[in-house]
Amino acid sequence: MANVTVIGAQWGDEGKGKIVDWLAERADVVVRFQGGHNAGHTLVVGNNTYKLSLLPSGIVRGTLSVIGNGVVLDPWHFKEEVAKLAGQGVTITPDNLHIAETCPLILPFHRDLDGLREDASGSGKIGTTRRGIGPAYEDKVGRRAIRLCDLAHLGELEPQIDRLCAHHDALRAGFGEPPIDRARLMDDLAGIAPFILPYAKPVWVTLNEARRRGDRILFEGAQGVLLDIDHGTYPFVTSSNTIAGTAAGGSGLGPSAAGFVLGIVKAYTTRVGAGPFPTELEDETGERLGTRGHEFGTVTGRKRRCGWFDSVLVRQSAAVSGITGIALTKLDVLDGFDEVRICTGYRIGDRTYDYLPPHAADQARVEPIYETMDGWHESTQGARSWAQLPAQAIKYIRRIEELIQCPVALVSTSPEREDTILVRDPFAD
Ligand code: GDP
Ligand code: IMO
Ligand code: MG
Repeated sequence: MANVTVIGAQWGDEGKGKIVDWLAERADVVVRFQGGHNAGHTLVVGNNTYKLSLLPSGIVRGTLSVIGNGVVLDPWHFKEEVAKLAGQGVTITPDNLHIAETCPLILPFHRDLDGLREDASGSGKIGTTRRGIGPAYEDKVGRRAIRLCDLAHLGELEPQIDRLCAHHDALRAGFGEPPIDRARLMDDLAGIAPFILPYAKPVWVTLNEARRRGDRILFEGAQGVLLDIDHGTYPFVTSSNTIAGTAAGGSGLGPSAAGFVLGIVKAYTTRVGAGPFPTELEDETGERLGTRGHEFGTVTGRKRRCGWFDSVLVRQSAAVSGITGIALTKLDVLDGFDEVRICTGYRIGDRTYDYLPPHAADQARVEPIYETMDGWHESTQGARSWAQLPAQAIKYIRRIEELIQCPVALVSTSPEREDTILVRDPFAD
Protein backbone atom coordinates (compact mmCIF):
# COMPACT_ATOMS: atom_id res chain seq x y z
CA MET A 1 0.00 0.00 0.00
CA ALA A 2 1.83 3.07 -1.20
CA ASN A 3 -0.42 5.88 -0.03
CA VAL A 4 0.70 8.74 2.19
CA THR A 5 -1.39 10.93 4.49
CA VAL A 6 0.18 14.27 5.38
CA ILE A 7 -1.11 16.05 8.46
CA GLY A 8 0.09 18.94 10.60
CA ALA A 9 1.22 17.75 14.04
CA GLN A 10 1.18 21.16 15.79
CA TRP A 11 -1.06 24.23 15.37
CA GLY A 12 -0.88 24.40 11.59
CA ASP A 13 1.61 26.12 9.26
CA GLU A 14 4.20 23.40 9.80
CA GLY A 15 5.11 23.38 6.10
CA LYS A 16 2.54 20.85 4.84
CA GLY A 17 2.29 22.57 1.44
CA LYS A 18 6.01 22.32 0.77
CA ILE A 19 6.15 18.64 1.73
CA VAL A 20 2.97 17.72 -0.19
CA ASP A 21 4.38 19.45 -3.26
CA TRP A 22 7.65 17.54 -2.88
CA LEU A 23 5.88 14.21 -2.45
CA ALA A 24 3.40 14.98 -5.25
CA GLU A 25 6.09 14.24 -7.82
CA ARG A 26 5.57 10.58 -7.02
CA ALA A 27 1.83 10.65 -6.40
CA ASP A 28 -0.94 9.94 -8.91
CA VAL A 29 -3.67 11.75 -6.98
CA VAL A 30 -3.58 14.45 -4.28
CA VAL A 31 -6.64 14.79 -2.02
CA ARG A 32 -7.81 17.46 0.42
CA PHE A 33 -10.19 15.88 2.94
CA GLN A 34 -11.11 18.50 5.57
CA GLY A 35 -11.00 22.20 6.34
CA GLY A 36 -11.55 24.82 3.70
CA HIS A 37 -9.94 28.06 2.60
CA ASN A 38 -8.85 28.75 6.18
CA ALA A 39 -5.72 26.82 5.16
CA GLY A 40 -2.74 28.58 3.63
CA HIS A 41 -0.19 26.29 2.03
CA THR A 42 2.92 27.85 0.51
CA LEU A 43 5.00 26.25 -2.24
CA VAL A 44 8.25 27.70 -3.50
CA VAL A 45 9.49 26.43 -6.83
CA GLY A 46 12.47 28.35 -8.18
CA ASN A 47 11.40 31.99 -8.44
CA ASN A 48 7.70 31.21 -8.11
CA THR A 49 5.73 31.20 -4.87
CA TYR A 50 2.27 29.65 -4.88
CA LYS A 51 -0.18 30.16 -2.02
CA LEU A 52 -3.03 27.68 -1.96
CA SER A 53 -5.95 27.78 0.43
CA LEU A 54 -8.58 25.47 -0.97
CA LEU A 55 -6.91 23.69 -3.84
CA PRO A 56 -4.78 20.61 -3.19
CA SER A 57 -1.07 21.41 -3.50
CA GLY A 58 -0.64 18.70 -6.15
CA ILE A 59 -2.39 20.94 -8.68
CA VAL A 60 0.79 22.98 -9.17
CA ARG A 61 2.50 19.93 -10.69
CA GLY A 62 -0.64 19.11 -12.68
CA THR A 63 -1.25 15.95 -10.62
CA LEU A 64 -4.89 14.83 -10.52
CA SER A 65 -6.32 16.68 -7.53
CA VAL A 66 -9.43 15.99 -5.49
CA ILE A 67 -11.41 18.07 -3.01
CA GLY A 68 -13.17 15.52 -0.83
CA ASN A 69 -16.57 15.63 0.83
CA GLY A 70 -15.00 16.55 4.21
CA VAL A 71 -14.02 19.98 2.89
CA VAL A 72 -16.30 23.03 3.22
CA LEU A 73 -16.31 24.86 -0.07
CA ASP A 74 -16.69 28.57 -0.77
CA PRO A 75 -17.54 28.55 -4.50
CA TRP A 76 -16.71 32.24 -5.02
CA HIS A 77 -13.36 31.80 -3.34
CA PHE A 78 -12.81 28.74 -5.51
CA LYS A 79 -13.30 30.82 -8.63
CA GLU A 80 -10.85 33.44 -7.37
CA GLU A 81 -8.20 30.89 -6.46
CA VAL A 82 -8.49 29.20 -9.85
CA ALA A 83 -8.07 32.60 -11.54
CA LYS A 84 -5.11 33.51 -9.33
CA LEU A 85 -3.31 30.28 -10.14
CA ALA A 86 -4.15 30.59 -13.82
CA GLY A 87 -2.32 33.93 -13.64
CA GLN A 88 0.71 31.99 -12.42
CA GLY A 89 0.50 29.52 -15.28
CA VAL A 90 -1.27 26.71 -13.41
CA THR A 91 -4.09 25.32 -15.51
CA ILE A 92 -7.04 23.96 -13.58
CA THR A 93 -9.76 22.11 -15.45
CA PRO A 94 -12.46 19.55 -14.62
CA ASP A 95 -9.98 16.98 -15.94
CA ASN A 96 -7.31 17.61 -13.33
CA LEU A 97 -9.53 18.72 -10.45
CA HIS A 98 -12.54 16.81 -9.12
CA ILE A 99 -14.70 18.21 -6.31
CA ALA A 100 -17.02 16.00 -4.26
CA GLU A 101 -20.64 16.66 -5.15
CA THR A 102 -21.45 16.31 -1.47
CA CYS A 103 -19.23 19.18 -0.27
CA PRO A 104 -21.21 21.58 1.94
CA LEU A 105 -20.99 25.17 0.70
CA ILE A 106 -19.71 28.15 2.62
CA LEU A 107 -22.18 30.95 1.88
CA PRO A 108 -21.72 34.72 2.36
CA PHE A 109 -23.70 34.78 5.62
CA HIS A 110 -21.37 32.13 7.12
CA ARG A 111 -18.50 34.55 6.70
CA ASP A 112 -20.61 37.36 8.22
CA LEU A 113 -21.53 35.22 11.22
CA ASP A 114 -17.91 34.17 11.80
CA GLY A 115 -16.89 37.83 11.94
CA LEU A 116 -19.88 38.96 14.03
CA ARG A 117 -19.18 36.30 16.63
CA GLU A 118 -15.50 37.12 16.79
CA ASP A 119 -16.22 40.82 17.14
CA ALA A 120 -18.70 40.13 19.94
CA SER A 121 -16.37 37.80 21.84
CA GLY A 122 -14.04 40.32 23.47
CA SER A 123 -11.29 38.47 25.28
CA GLY A 124 -12.94 35.14 24.44
CA LYS A 125 -12.07 35.48 20.75
CA ILE A 126 -10.83 32.34 19.04
CA GLY A 127 -8.99 34.35 16.44
CA THR A 128 -10.58 32.49 13.52
CA THR A 129 -9.70 33.22 9.92
CA ARG A 130 -13.21 34.79 9.59
CA ARG A 131 -13.86 32.78 6.45
CA GLY A 132 -17.04 31.12 7.66
CA ILE A 133 -15.52 27.71 8.31
CA GLY A 134 -17.12 27.12 11.73
CA PRO A 135 -20.63 28.27 10.75
CA ALA A 136 -20.53 26.15 7.57
CA TYR A 137 -19.58 23.01 9.51
CA GLU A 138 -22.33 23.79 12.03
CA ASP A 139 -24.88 23.80 9.21
CA LYS A 140 -23.49 20.54 7.85
CA VAL A 141 -23.89 18.81 11.20
CA GLY A 142 -27.25 20.55 11.70
CA ARG A 143 -28.40 18.95 8.41
CA ARG A 144 -29.36 22.21 6.80
CA ALA A 145 -26.32 22.84 4.56
CA ILE A 146 -26.55 23.61 0.84
CA ARG A 147 -24.23 21.18 -0.89
CA LEU A 148 -22.47 21.40 -4.24
CA CYS A 149 -24.91 18.92 -5.82
CA ASP A 150 -27.79 21.24 -4.86
CA LEU A 151 -26.54 23.74 -7.45
CA ALA A 152 -27.65 21.30 -10.14
CA HIS A 153 -31.17 21.41 -8.63
CA LEU A 154 -31.74 25.13 -8.21
CA GLY A 155 -35.45 24.76 -8.97
CA GLU A 156 -35.83 22.50 -5.94
CA LEU A 157 -33.73 24.58 -3.57
CA GLU A 158 -36.44 26.82 -2.13
CA PRO A 159 -37.50 24.65 0.85
CA GLN A 160 -33.85 24.11 1.86
CA ILE A 161 -33.16 27.83 1.65
CA ASP A 162 -36.24 28.47 3.80
CA ARG A 163 -34.98 26.15 6.51
CA LEU A 164 -31.47 27.52 6.38
CA CYS A 165 -32.60 31.14 6.43
CA ALA A 166 -35.01 30.55 9.31
CA HIS A 167 -32.06 29.37 11.36
CA HIS A 168 -29.69 32.14 10.30
CA ASP A 169 -32.18 34.99 10.41
CA ALA A 170 -32.76 34.25 14.10
CA LEU A 171 -29.01 34.33 14.73
CA ARG A 172 -28.60 37.49 12.69
CA ALA A 173 -31.43 39.21 14.56
CA GLY A 174 -29.49 38.55 17.78
CA PHE A 175 -26.63 40.59 16.31
CA GLY A 176 -28.97 43.32 15.04
CA GLU A 177 -28.37 42.26 11.43
CA PRO A 178 -31.08 42.27 8.72
CA PRO A 179 -32.47 38.95 7.43
CA ILE A 180 -30.72 37.21 4.55
CA ASP A 181 -31.62 38.61 1.14
CA ARG A 182 -32.96 35.37 -0.37
CA ALA A 183 -33.41 36.68 -3.88
CA ARG A 184 -29.80 37.81 -3.94
CA LEU A 185 -28.61 34.49 -2.50
CA MET A 186 -30.49 32.57 -5.20
CA ASP A 187 -29.03 34.89 -7.87
CA ASP A 188 -25.53 34.43 -6.50
CA LEU A 189 -25.92 30.64 -6.46
CA ALA A 190 -27.36 30.62 -9.97
CA GLY A 191 -24.47 32.84 -11.07
CA ILE A 192 -21.71 30.60 -9.73
CA ALA A 193 -23.28 27.23 -10.57
CA PRO A 194 -22.17 27.07 -14.24
CA PHE A 195 -18.57 27.76 -13.23
CA ILE A 196 -18.25 25.18 -10.48
CA LEU A 197 -20.61 22.36 -11.51
CA PRO A 198 -18.30 20.95 -14.23
CA TYR A 199 -15.84 20.09 -11.44
CA ALA A 200 -18.46 18.25 -9.34
CA LYS A 201 -17.90 14.49 -9.44
CA PRO A 202 -18.56 11.41 -7.35
CA VAL A 203 -14.99 11.55 -6.06
CA TRP A 204 -15.43 8.38 -4.06
CA VAL A 205 -15.63 6.67 -7.47
CA THR A 206 -12.53 8.50 -8.77
CA LEU A 207 -10.60 7.48 -5.67
CA ASN A 208 -11.80 3.89 -5.45
CA GLU A 209 -10.91 3.39 -9.11
CA ALA A 210 -7.50 4.93 -8.50
CA ARG A 211 -7.01 2.57 -5.60
CA ARG A 212 -7.95 -0.48 -7.64
CA ARG A 213 -5.44 0.55 -10.31
CA GLY A 214 -2.76 0.70 -7.62
CA ASP A 215 -2.32 4.46 -8.01
CA ARG A 216 -0.45 6.30 -5.31
CA ILE A 217 -2.80 8.53 -3.34
CA LEU A 218 -1.45 11.45 -1.34
CA PHE A 219 -3.82 12.93 1.24
CA GLU A 220 -3.19 16.56 2.19
CA GLY A 221 -4.38 17.58 5.63
CA ALA A 222 -5.02 21.17 6.60
CA GLN A 223 -4.50 22.83 10.00
CA GLY A 224 -2.89 20.59 12.64
CA VAL A 225 -3.72 18.02 15.31
CA LEU A 226 -3.74 20.64 18.07
CA LEU A 227 -6.51 22.46 16.17
CA ASP A 228 -8.58 19.25 15.88
CA ILE A 229 -12.14 19.67 17.14
CA ASP A 230 -11.78 16.59 19.40
CA HIS A 231 -8.09 16.37 20.18
CA GLY A 232 -7.00 20.00 20.02
CA THR A 233 -6.88 22.84 22.53
CA TYR A 234 -10.68 23.18 22.65
CA PRO A 235 -12.36 25.66 22.25
CA PHE A 236 -9.39 27.31 20.52
CA VAL A 237 -9.57 24.94 17.58
CA THR A 238 -10.99 24.73 14.09
CA SER A 239 -14.33 23.03 13.38
CA SER A 240 -13.11 19.85 11.69
CA ASN A 241 -11.18 16.74 12.61
CA THR A 242 -7.65 17.31 11.41
CA ILE A 243 -6.26 13.91 12.38
CA ALA A 244 -5.19 11.35 9.78
CA GLY A 245 -8.30 9.22 10.26
CA THR A 246 -10.34 11.95 8.60
CA ALA A 247 -8.63 11.18 5.29
CA ALA A 248 -10.96 8.18 4.95
CA GLY A 249 -14.27 9.75 5.96
CA GLY A 250 -13.49 13.02 4.22
CA SER A 251 -12.82 11.45 0.85
CA GLY A 252 -14.85 8.26 0.50
CA LEU A 253 -12.20 5.62 1.03
CA GLY A 254 -11.83 3.14 3.88
CA PRO A 255 -9.40 3.70 6.77
CA SER A 256 -6.84 1.29 5.32
CA ALA A 257 -6.25 3.76 2.47
CA ALA A 258 -4.39 6.23 4.69
CA GLY A 259 -1.08 4.36 4.29
CA PHE A 260 1.99 6.03 5.77
CA VAL A 261 0.91 8.82 8.10
CA LEU A 262 3.45 11.61 7.77
CA GLY A 263 3.20 14.21 10.54
CA ILE A 264 4.63 17.57 9.57
CA VAL A 265 6.49 19.08 12.50
CA LYS A 266 8.18 22.45 12.69
CA ALA A 267 11.56 22.39 14.49
CA TYR A 268 10.08 24.93 16.93
CA THR A 269 6.44 25.86 17.64
CA THR A 270 4.09 28.51 16.25
CA ARG A 271 0.45 29.35 16.64
CA VAL A 272 -1.75 31.93 14.95
CA GLY A 273 -4.92 32.96 16.73
CA ALA A 274 -5.79 32.76 20.41
CA GLY A 275 -5.44 29.90 22.87
CA PRO A 276 -2.96 28.21 25.17
CA PHE A 277 0.66 27.90 24.05
CA PRO A 278 2.89 26.57 26.85
CA THR A 279 6.29 27.24 25.24
CA GLU A 280 5.42 30.65 23.79
CA LEU A 281 8.29 33.16 23.95
CA GLU A 282 7.16 36.74 24.31
CA ASP A 283 10.71 38.01 24.25
CA GLU A 284 13.64 38.61 21.92
CA THR A 285 14.09 34.91 21.25
CA GLY A 286 10.48 34.61 20.13
CA GLU A 287 10.95 37.66 17.90
CA ARG A 288 14.08 36.13 16.46
CA LEU A 289 12.28 32.88 15.61
CA GLY A 290 9.45 34.86 13.99
CA THR A 291 11.81 37.04 11.96
CA ARG A 292 14.08 34.21 10.82
CA GLY A 293 11.09 31.97 10.07
CA HIS A 294 9.00 34.74 8.39
CA GLU A 295 6.17 33.75 10.67
CA PHE A 296 3.24 35.66 9.24
CA GLY A 297 -0.04 33.93 8.37
CA THR A 298 -0.53 33.00 4.71
CA VAL A 299 -4.30 33.64 4.87
CA THR A 300 -4.71 36.56 7.26
CA GLY A 301 -1.20 38.05 7.36
CA ARG A 302 -1.34 37.89 11.17
CA LYS A 303 1.92 37.60 13.06
CA ARG A 304 2.36 34.04 14.32
CA ARG A 305 3.21 33.48 17.97
CA CYS A 306 6.52 31.60 18.35
CA GLY A 307 8.12 29.37 20.98
CA TRP A 308 10.46 26.44 21.61
CA PHE A 309 9.80 22.92 20.41
CA ASP A 310 7.24 21.15 22.59
CA SER A 311 7.84 17.40 22.56
CA VAL A 312 4.88 16.74 24.87
CA LEU A 313 2.44 18.12 22.32
CA VAL A 314 4.01 16.40 19.34
CA ARG A 315 4.18 13.04 21.15
CA GLN A 316 0.48 13.42 21.92
CA SER A 317 -0.31 14.37 18.29
CA ALA A 318 1.68 11.41 17.01
CA ALA A 319 -0.23 9.08 19.33
CA VAL A 320 -3.78 10.34 18.68
CA SER A 321 -3.22 10.52 14.93
CA GLY A 322 -1.22 7.32 14.49
CA ILE A 323 1.75 9.09 12.90
CA THR A 324 4.17 6.66 11.24
CA GLY A 325 7.01 9.15 10.77
CA ILE A 326 7.56 12.89 10.71
CA ALA A 327 8.90 15.51 8.33
CA LEU A 328 10.87 18.00 10.43
CA THR A 329 10.67 21.41 8.79
CA LYS A 330 12.33 24.81 9.19
CA LEU A 331 15.41 23.35 10.87
CA ASP A 332 17.39 26.19 9.23
CA VAL A 333 15.50 28.76 11.29
CA LEU A 334 17.34 27.48 14.39
CA ASP A 335 20.79 28.06 12.84
CA GLY A 336 22.93 30.42 14.91
CA PHE A 337 21.27 30.00 18.30
CA ASP A 338 23.80 29.46 21.13
CA GLU A 339 21.38 27.11 22.77
CA VAL A 340 18.05 25.54 21.93
CA ARG A 341 15.39 24.31 24.30
CA ILE A 342 12.93 21.45 24.16
CA CYS A 343 9.91 21.16 26.41
CA THR A 344 9.78 17.66 27.91
CA GLY A 345 6.91 17.99 30.41
CA TYR A 346 4.66 20.42 32.24
CA ARG A 347 4.16 21.49 35.79
CA ILE A 348 1.16 22.97 37.59
CA GLY A 349 2.17 23.60 41.19
CA ASP A 350 3.62 20.30 42.50
CA ARG A 351 2.03 18.16 39.83
CA THR A 352 3.88 17.22 36.67
CA TYR A 353 2.27 16.15 33.41
CA ASP A 354 3.59 14.21 30.43
CA TYR A 355 0.53 15.19 28.37
CA LEU A 356 -1.53 18.34 27.88
CA PRO A 357 -4.35 18.42 30.44
CA PRO A 358 -7.75 18.80 28.73
CA HIS A 359 -9.17 21.87 30.46
CA ALA A 360 -8.46 25.23 28.82
CA ALA A 361 -7.65 26.84 32.19
CA ASP A 362 -5.07 24.13 33.00
CA GLN A 363 -3.67 24.38 29.49
CA ALA A 364 -3.19 28.10 30.01
CA ARG A 365 -1.56 27.50 33.40
CA VAL A 366 0.97 24.74 32.68
CA GLU A 367 4.61 25.67 33.01
CA PRO A 368 6.95 23.98 30.59
CA ILE A 369 9.83 21.87 31.88
CA TYR A 370 12.79 22.41 29.55
CA GLU A 371 15.86 20.55 28.50
CA THR A 372 18.60 22.76 27.05
CA MET A 373 20.99 21.71 24.29
CA ASP A 374 23.88 23.48 22.60
CA GLY A 375 22.83 25.06 19.33
CA TRP A 376 24.86 25.12 16.11
CA HIS A 377 26.48 27.99 14.26
CA GLU A 378 26.97 26.28 10.92
CA SER A 379 24.25 26.77 8.29
CA THR A 380 21.76 24.03 7.56
CA GLN A 381 19.95 26.21 5.04
CA GLY A 382 19.48 24.40 1.77
CA ALA A 383 21.02 21.13 3.01
CA ARG A 384 19.91 18.22 0.82
CA SER A 385 21.70 15.36 2.53
CA TRP A 386 22.15 14.17 6.07
CA ALA A 387 25.92 14.51 5.65
CA GLN A 388 25.50 18.29 5.18
CA LEU A 389 23.99 18.71 8.65
CA PRO A 390 26.17 19.85 11.56
CA ALA A 391 26.64 17.25 14.31
CA GLN A 392 24.74 19.33 16.84
CA ALA A 393 21.71 19.68 14.53
CA ILE A 394 21.69 15.89 14.12
CA LYS A 395 21.79 15.54 17.90
CA TYR A 396 18.76 17.84 18.13
CA ILE A 397 16.85 15.75 15.57
CA ARG A 398 17.75 12.49 17.31
CA ARG A 399 16.61 13.87 20.67
CA ILE A 400 13.28 14.93 19.14
CA GLU A 401 12.76 11.45 17.70
CA GLU A 402 13.44 9.93 21.09
CA LEU A 403 11.08 12.27 22.94
CA ILE A 404 8.18 12.04 20.50
CA GLN A 405 8.67 8.29 20.03
CA CYS A 406 8.52 8.60 16.28
CA PRO A 407 11.18 8.47 13.54
CA VAL A 408 12.11 11.27 11.15
CA ALA A 409 11.35 10.47 7.50
CA LEU A 410 12.15 13.86 5.94
CA VAL A 411 13.96 17.04 6.95
CA SER A 412 13.26 20.38 5.31
CA THR A 413 15.93 23.08 5.27
CA SER A 414 14.40 25.94 3.26
CA PRO A 415 11.10 26.89 1.59
CA GLU A 416 12.42 25.68 -1.76
CA ARG A 417 10.96 22.41 -3.07
CA GLU A 418 14.27 20.58 -3.50
CA ASP A 419 15.88 21.62 -0.19
CA THR A 420 14.66 18.45 1.44
CA ILE A 421 16.50 15.50 2.97
CA LEU A 422 14.96 12.08 2.46
CA VAL A 423 15.66 9.77 5.38
CA ARG A 424 12.96 7.17 4.80
CA ASP A 425 10.65 7.19 1.77
CA PRO A 426 7.02 7.33 2.97
CA PHE A 427 5.81 5.91 -0.36
CA ALA A 428 8.09 2.91 -0.05
CA ASP A 429 6.55 1.71 3.21
P1 GDP B 1 1.38 24.93 5.86
O1 GDP B 1 0.14 25.66 6.20
O2 GDP B 1 1.65 23.81 6.79
O3 GDP B 1 1.45 24.49 4.42
O4 GDP B 1 2.57 25.96 6.07
P2 GDP B 1 2.60 27.49 5.55
O5 GDP B 1 2.85 27.48 4.10
O6 GDP B 1 1.43 28.23 6.07
O7 GDP B 1 3.83 28.03 6.37
C1 GDP B 1 5.10 27.48 6.27
C2 GDP B 1 6.07 28.56 5.76
O8 GDP B 1 7.40 28.11 5.94
C3 GDP B 1 5.92 28.84 4.28
O9 GDP B 1 6.22 30.19 4.06
C4 GDP B 1 6.98 27.95 3.64
O10 GDP B 1 7.46 28.47 2.41
C5 GDP B 1 8.05 27.99 4.68
N1 GDP B 1 8.87 26.77 4.80
C6 GDP B 1 8.50 25.49 4.61
N2 GDP B 1 9.53 24.66 4.90
C7 GDP B 1 10.56 25.46 5.28
C8 GDP B 1 11.90 25.20 5.74
O11 GDP B 1 12.33 24.07 5.86
N3 GDP B 1 12.65 26.29 6.05
C9 GDP B 1 12.20 27.56 5.94
N4 GDP B 1 13.01 28.55 6.28
N5 GDP B 1 10.95 27.83 5.53
C10 GDP B 1 10.14 26.79 5.22
P1 IMO C 1 -2.91 25.57 7.59
O1 IMO C 1 -3.56 24.48 6.78
C1 IMO C 1 -2.84 27.82 11.30
C2 IMO C 1 -6.66 28.56 13.25
C3 IMO C 1 -7.14 29.99 13.31
C4 IMO C 1 -7.90 29.96 14.63
C5 IMO C 1 -8.55 28.58 14.61
C6 IMO C 1 -9.98 28.56 14.12
O2 IMO C 1 -2.34 26.67 6.80
O3 IMO C 1 -1.97 24.99 8.58
P2 IMO C 1 -11.09 28.79 11.71
O4 IMO C 1 -11.04 29.90 10.71
O5 IMO C 1 -10.57 27.48 11.19
O6 IMO C 1 -12.43 28.64 12.37
O7 IMO C 1 -10.09 29.27 12.89
O8 IMO C 1 -7.74 27.78 13.74
N1 IMO C 1 -6.35 28.06 11.90
C7 IMO C 1 -5.11 27.88 11.45
N2 IMO C 1 -3.92 28.15 12.02
N3 IMO C 1 -2.89 27.24 10.09
C8 IMO C 1 -4.06 26.93 9.52
O9 IMO C 1 -4.16 26.23 8.38
C9 IMO C 1 -5.26 27.30 10.18
N4 IMO C 1 -6.56 27.19 9.89
C10 IMO C 1 -7.22 27.65 10.95
O10 IMO C 1 -6.07 30.90 13.34
O11 IMO C 1 -6.98 29.99 15.70
MG1 MG D 1 -0.54 27.57 6.54
